Amino acid sequence: MREFPLTLSRFIIESQASHQGATGEFSSLLTQIGLVGKLISQDLRRAGLINILGATDDTNVQGETVKKLDAIANDDFVKVFQHSGYVCALASEEMEKPISIPGNWPHGKYMLLFDPLDGSSNTDNNMPLGAIFSVLKYDRGDRLPTDEELLCRGTEQIAAGYLLYGSSTMLVYTVGQGVYGFTLEPGIGEYLLSHERITIPDRGRVYAANEGNYHKWPGGTKKYLDSLKVSDKATGRPYSSRYSGCLVADVHRLLLGGGIYLYPGEVDKPEGKLRLLYEANPLAFVVEQAGGKASTGTSRILEVEPKKLHQRVPLIIGSRQDVEQAEAYIQGKA
Ligand code: AHG
Ligand code: MN
Ligand code: MN
Repeated sequence: MREFPLTLSRFIIESQASHQGATGEFSSLLTQIGLVGKLISQDLRRAGLINILGATDDTNVQGETVKKLDAIANDDFVKVFQHSGYVCALASEEMEKPISIPGNWPHGKYMLLFDPLDGSSNTDNNMPLGAIFSVLKYDRGDRLPTDEELLCRGTEQIAAGYLLYGSSTMLVYTVGQGVYGFTLEPGIGEYLLSHERITIPDRGRVYAANEGNYHKWPGGTKKYLDSLKVSDKATGRPYSSRYSGCLVADVHRLLLGGGIYLYPGEVDKPEGKLRLLYEANPLAFVVEQAGGKASTGTSRILEVEPKKLHQRVPLIIGSRQDVEQAEAYIQGKA
């Protein structure tokens, strides 16, 4: 008798039944995120052939040129969730304002915040891409959330994760009971459990940062990066540099093998580039659940008080010892 594959929905219902995130509704919400992953993955496999490369004429609220695939991925998330009945609000990197589900449509008790396509500079050169999602609970009966009620600290997330469009398509998530990875089996269109309880090594030997910005960084950050390049057998230095241009791909690499990703604050831009609510918070939840750490350089990402939907935050994330060492340098203690 064949061993029945452990699909995403079966895994959630069977092995996390004790957790609040294990309701059928939540399992279906995650399955819908998997559906977006299948739609985008399908497009990406043929991207050069179906006129989805390049940029639109639009600029988003971030002030960035919107790539065709940014818009396609955002539309897929909105179309899949707007009528799903699982969410009461949607907020995206690509939409200035959140979408609240009209009162006369079915809506659920979850607020979904997402980066529909992460690593957009990689769309036209066949390099890795991802999507990042954060799930908050909103259970006020028929009342719909105000925009301000979306501005929750990362500690209030009930689930978070990412889709990685790499050599294979993966869905990695946590509901606060460890981190689980599923790989899309295109032959049957199902996500099957491939990485059970992912734990990040306490220290790595890899760092990911855009060193083209080195001259913009404060002195402590520069000293930390310099320290990674000197030989030190005790700590495995020099570290190897691995930077893909896609936060999801770089974080996934260090989640499995250890190491550190930095998009630090700059002297003239102390808030950095990455967005708190739908990039830093969800990845911080995943990495902490795997035993790692996520910091602004001076404080825990998950405890940053959000003031605006598209608020930016410096992000230092990865193996615990590596992040703590970076914090010491950034805070002038090393
Ligand atoms: P997005 O494509 O959603 O805007 O995210 C891009 C982010 C992140 O994925 C990546 O690590 C970083 O921006 C790259 O920024 P630089 O090109 O400035 O290095
Ligand atoms: Mn992004
Ligand atoms: Mn994006």
